[in-house]
Amino acid sequence: MVRTLKAKGIEDKEVLRAIGNIPRHLFMDSSFLDHAYTDKPFPIAANQTISQPYTVARQTELLQVKKGDKILEIGTGSGYQAAVLLEMGAIVYTIERQNELFKKTSLFLPKLGYRPKRMVFGDGYLGLEEDAPFDGIIVTAGAPYVPNPLLAQLKIGGRLVIPVGDDLQIMTVFTRKSETKFEKKEYGEYRFVPMLEDKN
Ligand SMILES: C[S@@+](CC[C@H](N)C(=O)[O-])C[C@H]1O[C@@H](n2cnc3c(N)ncnc32)[C@H](O)[C@@H]1O
Repeated sequence: MVRTLKAKGIEDKEVLRAIGNIPRHLFMDSSFLDHAYTDKPFPIAANQTISQPYTVARQTELLQVKKGDKILEIGTGSGYQAAVLLEMGAIVYTIERQNELFKKTSLFLPKLGYRPKRMVFGDGYLGLEEDAPFDGIIVTAGAPYVPNPLLAQLKIGGRLVIPVGDDLQIMTVFTRKSETKFEKKEYGEYRFVPMLEDKN
């Protein structure tokens, strides 16, 4: 897996080390176990997916995580992305919108020794005001627009990594330069399951 990710352009040694250390098969449904170390997304509970390892690696690389950074993840899902962040020494807060996944993953991750600071059943569009500001925020579902609370909850110098779009998303990174200024950069097309809005 690590060799494949390197060949696809992932360079951050800490990201590669974290992914190399995590048993991805434990995060997947038993019917897909034979494919756990291929670079593909797979179904998990509640019609959701565990993202393709390349996507996890690329988003994590773009987040520029350092040990001790306070990171908010939107879309806990299987817990795999949270495990990658925890392996890298981040302090992780994670929000999941679907109760079935929230319950399953909040029991499962600590069993593997991965302990986010907080796992929240809630709406990622709102972020986590009471624990803000964050060094980084990573959104792991396709966002139809950039939620303002996520920008507002970044530290100065903090980064929001978010796939923006409807059917197809552009991986977008916002870096907070000052109280009111954000730098925006785009990093190619991806396809995520949609970030659910309250009306859904
Ligand atoms: C591609 S999956 C996440 C993959 C996950 N990070 C992992 O490592 O397995 C997207 C997740 O975002 C969740 N989600 C969708 N809309 C959300 C919202 N508004 N707030 C929080 N989570 C949401 C979905 O239920 C799903 O679990």
